[in-house]
Amino acid sequence: PGRPVMGPSMLKCDFGNLAEEISRLEDAGAEVLHLDVMDGHFVPNLSYGPMVIERIRERTDLPLDAHLMISEPSRWWKEYADAGCDAITFHIEAEPDPTANLAAIRDAGLTAGLAINPPTSFDRIEPFVDAADLVLVMSVNPGFGGQKFMPQVLPKVSRLRQMAGDRLIISIDGGIGTETISSAASAGAELFVAGSSIFDADDYGAAIKALTHQADI
Ligand code: DX5
Ligand code: ZN
Repeated sequence: PGRPVMGPSMLKCDFGNLAEEISRLEDAGAEVLHLDVMDGHFVPNLSYGPMVIERIRERTDLPLDAHLMISEPSRWWKEYADAGCDAITFHIEAEPDPTANLAAIRDAGLTAGLAINPPTSFDRIEPFVDAADLVLVMSVNPGFGGQKFMPQVLPKVSRLRQMAGDRLIISIDGGIGTETISSAASAGAELFVAGSSIFDADDYGAAIKALTHQADI
């Protein structure tokens, strides 16, 4: 694994001031923007889609990492590529055989990611890890920010790191804060998604620095 990278989850930002939030995050040292797309079907919440992401794209050169918490990702992922996303991650629970999707996302020149929910067993993704550039291990049940970190998912992170070595980007999402990030880093995660622990702080830069410091193990 490389050095720890922070990807703020935009779910908790002030959507009335999106442009300002983006520039605050850039100034704060964010290296990736994590975009939580929820369809009100795969998860019991709705967020935003390609139209909003297109506008975000116009405001920043940071890599955009779309986390698609949607049903039928094979039907929709291209819209997120067209909107300017750099990485597209969809769920194994939404697409039990993700091989074709992962290949198509890669062929489009994007980072292809596969996400796994806390109750889903590792065996479900194991056969597809080679076909992915990134695996996103969910450390909360997806749908809402501000939930409690579930340490029981950490063995998935360690197994992924053992299996794939340095090739794979391992990301962790949900309940990441200064108290939880070092356990995820020790297990082998390197891309840390954080919503509340950044957006609840007055100083995003200080929050990102504190997280990075705790993750640097
Ligand atoms: C949860 C989303 C996360 C979430 C993270 O469904 O995928 O990205 O917004 O928020 P926190 O850091 O508050 O758990
Ligand atoms: Zn997410």
